[in-house]
Amino acid sequence: MKNTLLNFAAIAAIVFTQSCSNKPKEVKPGFVDENVKFAAEQYDLQIAKIEESGEILNPKSIIDGKMKYIDPQEWTSGFFPGSLWYLYELTGDEKWKNRAVKFTETLDTVQYLTNHHDVGFMIGCSYGNGFRLVQNEPYKQVIIQAAKSLSTRFRPVAGIIQSWDVTGGWQAERGWECPVIIDNMMNLELLFEATKFTGDSTFWKIAVTHADNTIKNHFRPDFSTYHVIDYSLADGSVRNRNTAQGFAHESTWARGQAWAIYGFTVCYRETRNPKYLEQAEKAFEFVATNPNFPADGVPYWDYNAPNIPDEKRDASAAAIMASTLYELSGFSNHADYKAWADKIMQTLSGAEYRAVLGENGDFILKHSVGSIPHNSEVDVPLNYADYYFLEALKRKRDIEK
Ligand code: GLY
Repeated sequence: MKNTLLNFAAIAAIVFTQSCSNKPKEVKPGFVDENVKFAAEQYDLQIAKIEESGEILNPKSIIDGKMKYIDPQEWTSGFFPGSLWYLYELTGDEKWKNRAVKFTETLDTVQYLTNHHDVGFMIGCSYGNGFRLVQNEPYKQVIIQAAKSLSTRFRPVAGIIQSWDVTGGWQAERGWECPVIIDNMMNLELLFEATKFTGDSTFWKIAVTHADNTIKNHFRPDFSTYHVIDYSLADGSVRNRNTAQGFAHESTWARGQAWAIYGFTVCYRETRNPKYLEQAEKAFEFVATNPNFPADGVPYWDYNAPNIPDEKRDASAAAIMASTLYELSGFSNHADYKAWADKIMQTLSGAEYRAVLGENGDFILKHSVGSIPHNSEVDVPLNYADYYFLEALKRKRDIEK
């Protein structure tokens, strides 16, 4: 184990040195402040347009030049409110808190959502950040109720939380029984929170059981991830190893790999079980040593996309990785994780990825990918790319303090 880690450290150091030669390892002083200033100005414009409508609208993306606002039930509904909480935290300006409260509380009904797994994202990013910053009892109760709703999707025989129902939509056409996607690792934080709030270890046990079975079934020997594992509800065996948003069943979808790194980092933070730390490190090792991972740190949408370098990049996957690498750098012996995160952030804040003020639908980042196989949200801004970019800025600022 020690040798493996040492080997990884050596490989990572070589790859990092090669890919980062001639590039500063630390971004310049004032980097966070400048990006926060820009983000606040851009989101001021975003909010001004929403206010003109007289409604509390939830922006997700720009599709065919038109703003896409979403319902509270859509999986990304927590990200815009969450970004407002991060702007409050990053600026200290009460106006962002008032906005964050207003947009968060439009998601009140989401706590009862049981028809897909994303309630963790939705409530964690909105009410979860709200509770972290304002500590109010009603938000805590929403988080607990949401964890109860998520727990209804736990399937004890397979030992996982079912991600999607298979009774309708395109998921019904895939022949799956109990699909679990790697993204589901992101919902576990809500369960850990609920155990802390209630003292009821049921939530915690569901989270670690899901994480353990994800280690067992979602990873290939090189620590790349499958997107979808389909379980038998009768005996818990794996029926299919598939993709939905990646290039192929045996390829590695870039955002899925980012969700894996992030999810296992959270599991380590919450349990201090070293197997989760190792899983996060190995999942990032797959990225860091991958010949198809660009030196600027923004991955192509799939590490096995057939026409690299003529493939779309995914800024959302990069922002997720940057954010989690800042956290992971505090847990891991890999001294280069912060530099990797800085590298990604430097690229994302450059002209290629960061919008011009008043353009890009008033979102912060350009060039994300929702789902290429579904021809949906390709090369567009996405609210979750912005959310993890802001989270990364906050984490970078905290580390450097
Ligand atoms: N969780 C869905 C996605 O990452 O696209």
